[in-house]
Amino acid sequence: MPALKPEQRRSTSPAIVAAIVFLVGFAGIAGVMGIALAKDNGGTPSATAQTTTSRAEATPVAEPEPAGTAQKADEVVPSHHTPAADESPAARDPFPATLPPLKPGNEHRYTIALKDVTIEIAPGVKYSAWTFAGGAPGPAIHVKQGDKVTITLRNDGAIPHSIDFHAARIAPNRAFKDVAPGESLTYSFTANDPGVFMYHCGTPPVLAHIANGMYGAIVVDPKGGLPKVDRAYVLVGSEWYLSNDGKTAPASVDMVKARHVQPDYVTWNGYFGQYKDNPLPAEVGETIRFYVVAAGPSFDVDFHVVGTMLDRVWLDGRKNHTLENVQTVLVPAGGGAVFDTHFDEDGLYPFVSHSFASVDLGQVGLVKVGDVKGTMSH
Ligand code: CU
Ligand code: CU
Repeated sequence: MPALKPEQRRSTSPAIVAAIVFLVGFAGIAGVMGIALAKDNGGTPSATAQTTTSRAEATPVAEPEPAGTAQKADEVVPSHHTPAADESPAARDPFPATLPPLKPGNEHRYTIALKDVTIEIAPGVKYSAWTFAGGAPGPAIHVKQGDKVTITLRNDGAIPHSIDFHAARIAPNRAFKDVAPGESLTYSFTANDPGVFMYHCGTPPVLAHIANGMYGAIVVDPKGGLPKVDRAYVLVGSEWYLSNDGKTAPASVDMVKARHVQPDYVTWNGYFGQYKDNPLPAEVGETIRFYVVAAGPSFDVDFHVVGTMLDRVWLDGRKNHTLENVQTVLVPAGGGAVFDTHFDEDGLYPFVSHSFASVDLGQVGLVKVGDVKGTMSH
């Protein structure tokens, strides 16, 4: 049985936290949700995978690859502000749910640093997570059908990890293989399949790696795009299995609970009820789109928005897999779907997994339509 806890945890210094806050703020202004896209540098053979052994220091800030390397790639910055243990919960920003804008160009490069960090998953509840780019979920990625996507996973953690993109048709033994601590692996794929897809660590036991926070979403727009909408949000559902309450010391994964699917928390974008305190905005008459991924590791999402209908649904995000005017739609663990809805009057509209154990454990958020006050329990 491999060790499930990182042998060493890096604490986050105030300076680094400040850098994260600055960068996340900057990325927010840019509407980029923490993702930096590099220009097309060309010259990378399709579907290549290679490891490099250069040791890179752990750093949560964006930095270009060292000059002189054959390829340049921009860093993926932390996906959201994950407060350090000495920060108050009030300092926490919600995970940015807005879909990052599509960048120009047909080739995109991402460097994702695996980091062992202590994050907060509910008010006052700390968790020793394994993260893509410092957050759970990792950053949302947005490309279009036919784009070439080059991923570099740099393992700044204590044990081997990997990154499996469901959007890729590629040999897993080559592209999704383990990357040892201190090493990197780069592979490319062409995003020929449109939709909304999960990415995650595939290193055994996968249950532990996903439960520890190693998942995220990639949106691949179909050729010509889906119909235009007024606002688009990305929601990643997942559950957490805690070894202790996380209040006096950070929790790690409890594999017995995980195997028996008895989570302590179930969340949207990694944090208990965060969009109840920070509702997603909308206005009457707008069309709102949700890109939903069920990361699990084991729970499905029964997506439902209280007080309206799901006007249009694209299962897996495929144009030919459509439903109209439905109340609740299953998003299976490891799957995704796209939902359009609208609201007929101002108010607070909860979005949930209608499997209500999930709501009880934190998987509920609100859309605030118009200028309404207060909150709503559900
Ligand atoms: Cu992993
Ligand atoms: Cu998978």
